[in-house]
Amino acid sequence: MRLSVNIDHVATLRNARGGAHPCPVAMAQLCLDAGAEGITFHLREDRRHIRDADVRRLHAELRTRLNFEMAATPEMVGIAESLARSPRGLAACCFVPEKREELTTEGGLDVLRAGPFLAEAIARMAAQGTEVSLFVEPDAAQIEAAARLGAKAVELHTGSYADAAPEARPALVARLAEGARVAAGLGLAVHAGHGLSFETIGPVAAIPEICEVSIGHFLVGAALAEGFPGAVARMRGLIRTARGG
Ligand code: PXP
Repeated sequence: MRLSVNIDHVATLRNARGGAHPCPVAMAQLCLDAGAEGITFHLREDRRHIRDADVRRLHAELRTRLNFEMAATPEMVGIAESLARSPRGLAACCFVPEKREELTTEGGLDVLRAGPFLAEAIARMAAQGTEVSLFVEPDAAQIEAAARLGAKAVELHTGSYADAAPEARPALVARLAEGARVAAGLGLAVHAGHGLSFETIGPVAAIPEICEVSIGHFLVGAALAEGFPGAVARMRGLIRTARGG
């Protein structure tokens, strides 16, 4: 199972001050050095976190499986196609629903009711050799519709499971496991993500058909918790040195 780290919220933190720190590309490289097998980013229509220049640098500077998450719009498909056409190519993309006012992706794509552009977007990215995934609820009808439209993968939305009270989780894991079984039976690669944490990853990672998890927000928070002691100790040391020890 691959861990693809979503680095959107490194950019959220950077954008809070408008400068260049912390750098999503440098943090992505740290994730890869630590054992992540891929990097995911979501270029939103409003550019609230990752920006076009980040996408260009991530693509140019990282040697890993990049997963470009986006809404199926002509603008986004144009950007993804231009990366995919370059000599480096683009390994993967994932189409997600996007609403301007939402805090994060709120639900899976309604593939059954999608307009004609979704099929065109899938075909255009597939023609460039990019593995196309659709972000869907673990619902057999949605998964079957994704396969019919020509997707090669689905990313199962783990948000309901991850946000549920512990006693409600077993039933929701069973739903994810059944969705994974249906998707794999259709020949789709099965990914999963949204809201996963140290507490909730275990049962998802134990579903054998899932070959990739995408995790972002929790890891950025965990990185702060695990990184603060060293960062504060270093700053204290610099202050001490400046004062003559
Ligand atoms: N997968 C998809 C399709 C997403 O939209 C997101 C959030 O951008 C994630 C995974 C990662 O979710 P989180 O940041 O909660 O780990």
